[in-house]
Amino acid sequence: MNDPAAFVEEAVRRLRHDVPERTIVAASGGIDSTVAALLAHRALGERAKAIFVDTGLLRAGEVEQVGRFFAASQLPYELVSAADLFFEALAGVNDPEEKRRRIGAAFVRVFETEADKFHCDRLIQGTIAPDWIESGGQLRDTIKTHHNVGGIPKDMRLTLVEPLRDLYKDEVRAVARHLGVPEAERQPFPGPGLAVRVNGPITRVRVERVRIANAIVEEEVERAVAAQEIARPWQYFAVLLPVRTVGVTGDNRVHGEAVVVRIVESVDAMTATAMALPRPVLGRMSERITRALSGAVVRVLYDITDKPPATIEWE
Ligand code: XMP
Repeated sequence: MNDPAAFVEEAVRRLRHDVPERTIVAASGGIDSTVAALLAHRALGERAKAIFVDTGLLRAGEVEQVGRFFAASQLPYELVSAADLFFEALAGVNDPEEKRRRIGAAFVRVFETEADKFHCDRLIQGTIAPDWIESGGQLRDTIKTHHNVGGIPKDMRLTLVEPLRDLYKDEVRAVARHLGVPEAERQPFPGPGLAVRVNGPITRVRVERVRIANAIVEEEVERAVAAQEIARPWQYFAVLLPVRTVGVTGDNRVHGEAVVVRIVESVDAMTATAMALPRPVLGRMSERITRALSGAVVRVLYDITDKPPATIEWE
């Protein structure tokens, strides 16, 4: 794909063919699904409705931010609050692949309900090439189960339509710029949300911890980028580890969890390099995270592993 205008024209033509009547669009506010939603709107107008699910696993301020974007665009959309459903589905699950499957299934249940309300049987998703390549199947090994590919239950009643299936991230960004999407350079955020950044059991308390730590990492990176201390990384976020490690507050020894800071440079997420961060930037993150989560998180680690051998996310 090297001509975004030609890609958009062809995608619109295909969407009109693949969606004879009405459709909903899975919209997370991320770049892939936003591009898919805009293409659907171009092709189908009011016959396409974006569904934005608040899973309870989103970042600080994200519900408001995405809501503002959809409200400002001409796209018909619906915000569905489904945190209870997702936390129930994830209760007691530790296995990363099982988490992804449960999240995929919970999303599909929400979309089926919304499709019934909108009287349609189609679901447009912003699946891109690495999602299905990494999810395996047929002759491929599974690298990870993307919630929007391998996480889809076999009995789903909706027919999937995926206009971005053949694109890589940098190509999606070129299309996004062509369509005038603001913040086309925004960092990717995985569909399963903070769930893949909470190692071990997922509880509301632990998700809130990682949400707070993550907001600090984002703020400090954005401050360092604005001050030209670093180039804008590909992704920058926090992960919560289920360890019991010791720290001190005043005269007391306290046991808490650990937060990992992960900041990587990449071009297409297929490979990545851990970013060399100036020591003062790391120091500010560590100081702010342990203060904001005093007693609950007593240690902050910096992940220095490239991809491969590691992946960008921890799960
Ligand atoms: P990894 O961790 O495999 O991630 O190096 C590569 C890129 O994919 C994002 N990612 C996901 N995106 N659903 C998504 O929509 C997922 O399940 C998922 N898992 C990872 C990750 O943030 C990185 O940009």
